[in-house]
Amino acid sequence: MSARKKLKEAERLIAYRDVFHYGKDIVETDIFKEAMAQTHHRKTTVGDHSASVAVIALRMCRKLNRRVCHLDERRVVLAALTHDLGIVGRHEKYSTNIETYLRHPSDSAKIAMDLLPDMNKKFYRSISRHMFPLTILPPTSMEGLIISVADKMASFKDISPRKAYSSTLNQ
Ligand SMILES: [Fe+2]
Ligand SMILES: [Fe+2]
Repeated sequence: MSARKKLKEAERLIAYRDVFHYGKDIVETDIFKEAMAQTHHRKTTVGDHSASVAVIALRMCRKLNRRVCHLDERRVVLAALTHDLGIVGRHEKYSTNIETYLRHPSDSAKIAMDLLPDMNKKFYRSISRHMFPLTILPPTSMEGLIISVADKMASFKDISPRKAYSSTLNQ
């Protein structure tokens, strides 16, 4: 393995560790435990997918913070971990896939408001707009853009033949 690849792997492992440091209170909630049991993108779970989004988002956040931004890592991780909690129980809540796609972002934001009541509007909006451009309104902050992009990257990894990114959650 080249030095560059070793460095990338080390950064990824550190990001995993830090996701659980920042997100400990979310990961231990009942709804996140339910998310760990609900299949998502056919071969992963909502919880595993959310952890993947958090790792990708945290690494993007760190790259940007090395250059121009001053993003709050903890807020980015918490938004990533909660961005899909609205989809938990989808078969009881929604009758079609389209309804699921369109409604789960705002339902996730409502759940985040309950779990993390001290965050600001920008934080909740980064969750409620993560499905842009499917849902018409775009993210309004750099954190929101990171969550939306990281979600798409994690979803692509989820459905690709390679091993799911976040399987360490189950170890
Ligand atoms: Fe989503
Ligand atoms: Fe997602």
